[in-house]
Amino acid sequence: MAYGLLKGKRGIISGALDENSIAWQVALKAKEEGAIFTLTNAPIAMRMGAINNLAEQCDAQIIPADATSVEDIENLFSKSTEILGGKIDFVLHSIGMSLNVRKNKEYGDLNYEWMQKGLDISAISLHKFLQVAEKQDALNEWASVVALSYIAAQRTYSFYGDMAEAKAMLESIARSYGYRYGKAKNVRVNTISQSPTVTKAGSGIEGFDAFYEFAQKMSPLGNAKAEDCANYAISMFSDLTRYVTMQNLYHDGGYSATGISEDLVQMIQQQNQ
Ligand SMILES: NC(=O)c1ccc[n+]([C@@H]2O[C@H](COP(=O)([O-])OP(=O)(O)OC[C@H]3O[C@@H](n4cnc5c(N)ncnc54)[C@H](O)[C@@H]3O)[C@@H](O)[C@H]2O)c1
Repeated sequence: MAYGLLKGKRGIISGALDENSIAWQVALKAKEEGAIFTLTNAPIAMRMGAINNLAEQCDAQIIPADATSVEDIENLFSKSTEILGGKIDFVLHSIGMSLNVRKNKEYGDLNYEWMQKGLDISAISLHKFLQVAEKQDALNEWASVVALSYIAAQRTYSFYGDMAEAKAMLESIARSYGYRYGKAKNVRVNTISQSPTVTKAGSGIEGFDAFYEFAQKMSPLGNAKAEDCANYAISMFSDLTRYVTMQNLYHDGGYSATGISEDLVQMIQQQNQ
């Protein structure tokens, strides 16, 4: 059911790779809620081609941009305001990648060049988006910027490798830039900390299936789906959440506040019998 929450709003949505992507679901919902927006992804991701189907469904133009390139991001913001006919009201940062995780490099044997690349792609890129937007004065007053995070920013998850550092930095940038941009233009910046979700980025993590199941059993509501994460993002882009900023918002079915669940206790008891 649509509510017209984003009627008249202009946006930029990054990170839609295929229909499992969280950003893909956000784009579909944003369209449903009346927004117009551009889509962006790394030039290399364009080769997979699926994003063209999404663009068609959403009447959206695609502007390729490598999230590590300031020049690409400058082009992304200036083209987006031109195409959409005015300043931007919402931005989704849904970008993450660790070369160390992808190549199964252990935490005690990290390749530091890869680590720096991963931090640049997954965290510093949020700063680049915001700095470019501010310099171009590309965002409207009360615009809302949302990036996607994971609870490994607060707690250790052995399989998550150096992405934990990337998410901690991402959340810190959301706070620091949220303060700056809030003072300057009432722009708000938040992160949504999402449950494990079956996507290309998620399932690239070793042991993901077991962890997905663990989180499912730990969360009273179960793991939050990509579609529901999209609903939350839409509410954060809407005018109904205007005074929420500089927050890391858990969207995880209650996982982050649960110590241990009955389901897990039962499972362990059964194993020990
Ligand atoms: N899937 C999960 O379990 C989960 C849980 C919590 C948070 N997240 C976060 O959600 C976000 C979206 O991930 P997803 O799960 O939808 O997976 P996904 O693989 O569909 O999306 C990741 C996107 O990052 C893009 N990307 C990678 N390098 C890039 C670059 N240099 N420039 C521009 N874009 C680049 C990819 O092309 C892809 O579209 C990520 O930040 C991820 O860490 C995912």
